[in-house]
Amino acid sequence: MKRKIIALIILVLVTIQFFRIDKSNPPSVPSQDFISMTAPSDEIATLLKTACYDCHSNQTRYPWYTNIAPVSWLIKNHINEAREYMNFSEWGTYPSEEQVQKLSKSMEEVDEGEMPLFTYTLLNGDAKLNAAQQAKLTAWFQQLGGVEDYPADDDE
Ligand code: HEC
Repeated sequence: MKRKIIALIILVLVTIQFFRIDKSNPPSVPSQDFISMTAPSDEIATLLKTACYDCHSNQTRYPWYTNIAPVSWLIKNHINEAREYMNFSEWGTYPSEEQVQKLSKSMEEVDEGEMPLFTYTLLNGDAKLNAAQQAKLTAWFQQLGGVEDYPADDDE
């Protein structure tokens, strides 16, 4: 009985590997890209690329573990959700009020350590922001958005 269950689990795990995620990146237009448009320092640009761009842009890098289902499905889901909320590759297409709102929300998420997602930093140690990096990134969002502070959240 036990052996049959194990065999069944293995069969399922093998079978789901055939359901691969789409790793093609939608095209990125440099003139619409957040980093190209806002020209931050190299340090900030690198922070954005390593900590945000894998999910919030069309320049996603797909490391080896994105080949393994069901982890790959969860990751793809995060990428889709993240791009839907804010896609740095399409920054230029957002009206300016929306940009300000996204900058203010980004300040909040980074300041509170909510972004980059914890599960992502577990797998990508490089993407984990230390306090100094958090402060620099937050200050950059603040400067661009011209916002004093992010709006307080009632639900947190
Ligand atoms: C591993 C993928 C991933 C990375 C990396 C990532 N995000 Fe996100 N982000 C998401 C997902 C998924 C959501 C939507 C669900 C949620 O809010 O948790 C989101 C939501 C957001 C939101 C909206 C939050 C809200 O509640 O409205 C902001 C702002 C944001 N991310 C900013 C950033 C910034 C800035 C970085 C880099 C410092 C970053 N994210 C890195 C996946 C990611």
